[in-house]
Amino acid sequence: MTMMDKRKLGPNGPKVGAVGMGCWAIGGHFTLDGRNDGWGQVDDAQSVRSIELALDLGASLFDTADAYGTGHSESILGSALKGRRDEVFVATKFGFTYDEGAKALVATDVSPSYIDWASGKSLKRLGMDHIDLYQIHVGDLSDDAADRAGEALESLVDKGRIRAWGWSTDNAASARRMLKYPHFAAVQQELSVLCDGKDMLALCAEADLASLNRSPLAMGMLSGKFSASSRLGKDDVRAAGHSWVRFFADGRPKPETLAVVEALRDLLTTGGRTVAQGALGWNLARSPHTVPIPGFKTEAQVRDNLGALEKGPLPAAVMAEISGILRAEPVDA
Ligand SMILES: NC(=O)c1ccc[n+]([C@@H]2O[C@H](COP(=O)([O-])OP(=O)(O)OC[C@H]3O[C@@H](n4cnc5c(N)ncnc54)[C@H](OP(=O)(O)O)[C@@H]3O)[C@@H](O)[C@H]2O)c1
Repeated sequence: MTMMDKRKLGPNGPKVGAVGMGCWAIGGHFTLDGRNDGWGQVDDAQSVRSIELALDLGASLFDTADAYGTGHSESILGSALKGRRDEVFVATKFGFTYDEGAKALVATDVSPSYIDWASGKSLKRLGMDHIDLYQIHVGDLSDDAADRAGEALESLVDKGRIRAWGWSTDNAASARRMLKYPHFAAVQQELSVLCDGKDMLALCAEADLASLNRSPLAMGMLSGKFSASSRLGKDDVRAAGHSWVRFFADGRPKPETLAVVEALRDLLTTGGRTVAQGALGWNLARSPHTVPIPGFKTEAQVRDNLGALEKGPLPAAVMAEISGILRAEPVDA
């Protein structure tokens, strides 16, 4: 692997594989607001094999959360990484309280005492003595709550429990307020061909923050595998009716989004890329700070997504052509 394939995890952070691994789906079933928040059937043994393959193919950053499967994703990740801790950087999140027995997210809490408790639980499930990047999972916070969380996170760094911290938010003004804390190293923003986030990217460039990119495949839409006849299972988050699921409705891909993906297919597959590799190549070309973290359920998906490392960022001319098409057919409403 060349240095081109690596990106810095914040101002003084370590270098990580430029494509990371999103571990939401491998958490299996759980609910949010009484609706499904998992990705249908997952096979734990296959999740472990997929993580092992990802390590062999050059991934080193794994993004999970205590919320995913109310702890199951962290447990699976921890068991798959046993004996290979030195090869990886683990990012997890806190902020949604949960009922492990009922597999349900309950409320939100980012108070200092909760952060202390939640970080201990995450470390136990991961089987690790520190977290490389500990992220606030709740995207909107009052300034006061954000400051109290920031101070608590700095004290976790002092205790050696975490190395650095970040915030999963799309609000660049809120993220900017965190720059006063020395170990604030990363934001996690939604960023994909179908959802740009230029204000946050500008902040990352200015402050040398890492930009972890959630939903870089637009929840699978940018793999190019969906068609007008596709139907999502009832146990799939994309069919659960959450207001924030934008590219699917009534258990099927939205026709207008499918049309945009088709309009982009030839450009995304430039240079022998698959559609997913082109989509991830878009994120890599968008800024030197980005680290897309595509989700996965199978070894085939891991192989496809990490193939983007070898293919690299999309060429500038292709990026410009994609912008032209998106200006004509905006999807980011
Ligand atoms: N609030 C937050 O902090 C937040 C929110 C969202 C996501 N995230 C993080 O970001 C990660 C990625 O986002 P995401 O999971 O929402 O969406 P994504 O990466 O855009 O899409 C992931 C899903 O697409 C399908 N897929 C992945 N690679 C594929 C391939 N090569 N070919 C075909 N299908 C493929 C898989 O589902 P199927 O096989 O079922 O289609 C997979 O679960 C998450 O895992 C999580 O770590 C964080």
